[in-house]
Amino acid sequence: MARALELARRGWGRVAPNPLVGAVLVREGRLLAEGYHAEFGGEHAEIRALGDCADPSGATCVVTLEPCAHHGKTPPCADALVAAGVARVVFALPDPDPVAGGGAARLRQAGIEVAEGVGRLDAAALNAPFLWSRLRPERPFVALKMATSLDGFVADRSGASQWISGPDAREYAHWLRAGFDAVAVGRGTAVADDPALTVRGSVAPRVAPTRVVFARDGELPQTLKLVRTARDQRTVIFVRPEAEARVRRSLAGREVAVRAASDLGAALRDLAAQGVASILVEGGGTLATALLDADLVDRVHWIQAPRWLGDGRRAFGRRTPTALGDARAWTVTERRALGPDTLLVIDRELCLRES
Ligand SMILES: NC(=O)c1ccc[n+]([C@@H]2O[C@H](COP(=O)([O-])OP(=O)(O)OC[C@H]3O[C@@H](n4cnc5c(N)ncnc54)[C@H](OP(=O)(O)O)[C@@H]3O)[C@@H](O)[C@H]2O)c1
Repeated sequence: MARALELARRGWGRVAPNPLVGAVLVREGRLLAEGYHAEFGGEHAEIRALGDCADPSGATCVVTLEPCAHHGKTPPCADALVAAGVARVVFALPDPDPVAGGGAARLRQAGIEVAEGVGRLDAAALNAPFLWSRLRPERPFVALKMATSLDGFVADRSGASQWISGPDAREYAHWLRAGFDAVAVGRGTAVADDPALTVRGSVAPRVAPTRVVFARDGELPQTLKLVRTARDQRTVIFVRPEAEARVRRSLAGREVAVRAASDLGAALRDLAAQGVASILVEGGGTLATALLDADLVDRVHWIQAPRWLGDGRRAFGRRTPTALGDARAWTVTERRALGPDTLLVIDRELCLRES
């Protein structure tokens, strides 16, 4: 299953709104073939593994998600596994999709031994945005990405934040963007850093993420990259209803979509209604704190650089004080080095449905 999960990750940025899926075929402890879902609308992981296997009869198929049971863009994987004569199917998570689900029952009916739940938590973490979109579609899955100093600052006293972290962390940030439907910053960051918020890493996303700026009252200067390039890449700014007309006027003739939302929750619901199922928020600290205080963050990608700044802009502001006994621990999903920096990925709760 660890190998299947590793393979599944290769579809990042290319398969959404489908899930990331990897599969291996094994027999008597020997790896026969492997596959993953590489492209939206393309072959599923199980089919690619079967296609690469000279003789799958009697084999075990280990797959990160329940094999599908429906005719979508491709025929049902459950039927293909039955036809191939595999003896056993082990999967991590049930398919939450009411249309695609039901593969396990179909396999069992055909006399195939089925085991589920192996690697369940890792699989749920890998597919968190997909699971969220199927189980809680009213707002997007919200991930926050912040790079900080050891003492928790995102920028120094002058507001300079480029670059707190190193090149490996920046490459990771581009890889991350590729897998989200939208990438966002607060108005403070849009103005201070003039980011392009485009994906310029090793993975070219199938659909470039929508760029979002969360503002309340303020406008965006016409000179910003986000404004100047809004024709090339969908760009949305959220403001309070009272500010909408003024901001619209100030951006007249530009392609930036101005949307009114009374608060961050309303803005996120509006994005969900526009088909945004996942959003990566890249700061700054004011926006990050407001989202955390409103309990609107599902995952944090925290990159910690080995530097001290002493003072500056705080990553997570001053939040409502919580007694230690009441401070819930988030689940650590990933922890690894990015060159000299350290990546910590934590989840508020994993989106799991009991099968
Ligand atoms: N190291 C990193 O990872 C990183 C990442 C991003 C930014 N930064 C640094 O962070 C600094 C900018 O951060 P910042 O904290 O000043 O700005 P920010 O968080 O980017 O944006 C703050 C703005 O967000 C808008 N907003 C929308 N909803 C809000 C809400 N519910 N509560 C509060 N604000 C809301 C407000 O816009 P209105 O003004 O229109 O009301 C507010 O002024 C820069 O120095 C930048 O370089 C560092």
